[in-house]
Amino acid sequence: MMKRSLLIGTGSYLPARVVTNDELAQRMETSDDWIRQRTGIGQRHIAADGEMTSALATNAARGALERAGVPVSELDLIVVATTTPDDTFPSTATKVQHALGMTRGFAFDIQAVCAGFVYALATADNFLKAGQGRTALVIGAETFSRLLDWEDRSTCVLFGDGAGAVVLRSEDVEGASTAWGVLSTHLHSDGSARDILYVDGGPSSSGTVGHVRMEGKEVFRHAVSKLSNVIDEALTANGMTSDQVDWLIPHQANRRIIEAMAKRMGLPMTRVVCSIEKHANTSAASIPLALDQAARDGRVKSGDLVLMEAIGGGLAWGAGLVRIGLPTAGNQGQAKAMREEPAPIA
Ligand code: UT7
Repeated sequence: MMKRSLLIGTGSYLPARVVTNDELAQRMETSDDWIRQRTGIGQRHIAADGEMTSALATNAARGALERAGVPVSELDLIVVATTTPDDTFPSTATKVQHALGMTRGFAFDIQAVCAGFVYALATADNFLKAGQGRTALVIGAETFSRLLDWEDRSTCVLFGDGAGAVVLRSEDVEGASTAWGVLSTHLHSDGSARDILYVDGGPSSSGTVGHVRMEGKEVFRHAVSKLSNVIDEALTANGMTSDQVDWLIPHQANRRIIEAMAKRMGLPMTRVVCSIEKHANTSAASIPLALDQAARDGRVKSGDLVLMEAIGGGLAWGAGLVRIGLPTAGNQGQAKAMREEPAPIA
């Protein structure tokens, strides 16, 4: 018998305001053509004044809890991945905890920039496997627009705001059911590459919030090689090959990086969830946001094997292999506590 963290619900939230490439082209020296060709981005959502990361996160969380059929009273922990917390402290996760009306358990933030969701998933999974809680909410949420220098066209056109969330529930499984839930996560970082992607501010360095600075070409180069390696690592660790993967759900930083990963895995783009055109790069939110949208439009179904990967500032990167949903009656093995219906996310 072993513990698995089953992924039983997803949710997401986007601020109402949409900013198109054309709108940006009216404000700065850029064009819809350049942005689409170099990145695949067509538009981004931008949070309203006063609309904070915790509000985006709470909305995404409510959707995930509802679809999982999990009441707030059953939650043991909340992990929020964000680079754009409401305040330096308290954590955004504790604000979400309060907003949801969760009066027990614990909540904390994780900071791994664009790799944040994979780090948060790994953290929550390890807490659950260690028996420190049974039900976790894992959220990626950002108001990244607040970190942008709107005078720097090489970065400000790339990012957007949003949030995504998943509910993990720990179950004792054996037999076929061991191939469900979070199969493995793989995390890496390399602080020597700090200068190619960073924010030029912070509470300890300058007392200001700062702005994103990036050497795009260098980051691109690292992304392609490091993500390829971590994808191989995740598949090898599970004795799997890429043809067994139903969906690649990558971090949405650049369509060209996403296509390079799909090509390397031999996957057609029809098996890749690519939401960059509508959302741009939402940092820690991009994977759970893409996952939720694909679950809700019927692409990703209970039982699908999903490979997630991301890289960002640090550099920090990682991957996770997850079989989505709940084991069904046919292959549930010892998972007696689980409902027999497929997960409600599909
Ligand atoms: O999520 C965190 C991880 N981040 C990433 O993975 C991002 C990785 N990098 C990238 O996605 C790409 O490097 C970018 C999209 C950021 C840039 O694309 P690129 O093909 O590497 O372009 P570049 O930076 O080499 O710039 C090419 C040209 C430059 O002009 P010159 O020097 O060739 O005359 C830039 O000044 O494009 C110019 N440029 C722009 N032109 C119109 C830069 N930004 C813009 C812009 N509009 N917004």
